[in-house]
Amino acid sequence: MKALILVGGFGTRLRPLTLSCPKPLVDFCNKPMIVHQIEALKNVGVNEVVLAINYQPKVMMGFIDEYEKKLGVKIVCSQEETPMGTAGPLALARSILDDGSGDPFFVLNSDVICEYPLQQALDFFKSRGEGAEGTILVTKVEDPSKYGVVVFDEGTGKVDKFVEKPKVFVGDKINAGIYLLSPKILDRIELRPTSIEKEVFPKVAEEGKLFSMVLPGYWMDIGQPKDYLTGLKLHLNSLAAAGSGELAKGDNFVGNVLVHPTAKIGAGCKIGPDVSIGEGCVVGDGVRISNATVFRGVQIKDHALVSGSIVGWDSVIGNWSRVENMSVLGEDVTVKDELYLNGAVVLLHKEIKASIESPQIIL
Ligand code: GDD
Ligand code: MG
Repeated sequence: MKALILVGGFGTRLRPLTLSCPKPLVDFCNKPMIVHQIEALKNVGVNEVVLAINYQPKVMMGFIDEYEKKLGVKIVCSQEETPMGTAGPLALARSILDDGSGDPFFVLNSDVICEYPLQQALDFFKSRGEGAEGTILVTKVEDPSKYGVVVFDEGTGKVDKFVEKPKVFVGDKINAGIYLLSPKILDRIELRPTSIEKEVFPKVAEEGKLFSMVLPGYWMDIGQPKDYLTGLKLHLNSLAAAGSGELAKGDNFVGNVLVHPTAKIGAGCKIGPDVSIGEGCVVGDGVRISNATVFRGVQIKDHALVSGSIVGWDSVIGNWSRVENMSVLGEDVTVKDELYLNGAVVLLHKEIKASIESPQIIL
C-alpha cells in the first residue's frame, strides 16, 4: 500500500524553527514530525511513502538517506517546480499512487498528530463499498474557523458538505488532514496547483462519494507554537494513558515528561508537567521546566527556568535566566546569565545579552 505526505508549504507560522529545516522535519517528542507518521503508516502495511515537496530538496534527501533504513520503508520525494497546493501533488505522483491494484492510498498533512488509528480508517473505508472515493478523518474542535469543516451524516458518515475555513459557522467537526483515497479520485485532479479542500472534496461530497470517520483519541495541528505545545501535552497524556515506559520517573520529574536517554539532568530540578527534552541535552542543577520542548543539543544552566516555550537545537540558556510565555528560540541561540525573556521569538544564531520584557521578534 502507498501513502503520500504533503510536506510542502513554508511553515511560516513555526518560524524561526523552520528556518533551520522544513516544518515536517522539526522535532516533536524527539523525532521529526513525519517520523511519527511514517511509523504509523508502516504499521498498517504501507511499503512506500511519497514525500510531496516544493522546497529544500537537499535537506529532504538527507532525511531519506537517514530514515529509509531506520524505518524499513521505501521513501521517495516527488518534487514540485512550483507549489502545487494540496491536490496537485497527487496528480504529480499519480504513477506511484495508482499502482493498478485498485487499493486505496493514504494522504496526510505533515503537521497533524494523533494516535493514527489507520487500521480503523482502512476498515471503515472498505465498509463504505465500491462507489466511495474517499474517507476523511474528522475531529471536533472549539474554533472550527481555521480548518476545513465537514458536515456529514452521523450514521453513515456520508459527507454533505466540505467548507474550507468557513466565515460563518457550519459545524464543529473538522478535517483532521488524514485521508484514505481511492485511485478513482485521481481522475478528478489535474496536474496544476489545486486545493483538495476547495476544489476536490466539495465536488466528491456533492456526488455522495465522500465519507468521514470520527477520529478516536486526541488530535492537533502543530503548525504553530501555541498549538505545538498543546499537542505536546496531549501526546504525553496519551503515552501516559497507554502505560508507556518511555516517560521519565524520579524525584526531578512532575507529571508527564519525556527525556532522551542521552540527556543529562542535574540535581534538585523540577521538570514537568508536559516537557520533552532532546538528545544530548545538558540540564544543570535546580532547573525548572514546564510545558516546554527542549530540542537536541541544548544546554540549560543551573537554576534557569523555561516555561511555555520552545528551545531550538543547540541553544544555551544561562544561569538563573527565565524563558517564558511562548518564547521560541531558533537554532543555536545563546541567552546570557540572569536574563528574563517574555514571549521572545529569537532568530537562529543570536546572542541575547539583555532581558526582553515584552513579546517581540528578535531579528
Ligand atoms: N507538496 C506541497 N505543496 N504541500 C503543501 C503545499 C504545496 O504547495 N501547500 C501546503 N502543503 C502542505 C503543508 O505542508 C501541510 O502539510 C498541508 O499541505 C496542509 O497545509 P497547511 O498550510 O498546514 O494547511 P492548514 O493547516 O491551514 O489547513 C489544512 O489542515 C487542516 C488540519 O490541520 C486543511 O487541510 C484543513 O482542511 C484542515 O482542517
Ligand atoms: Mg496545518
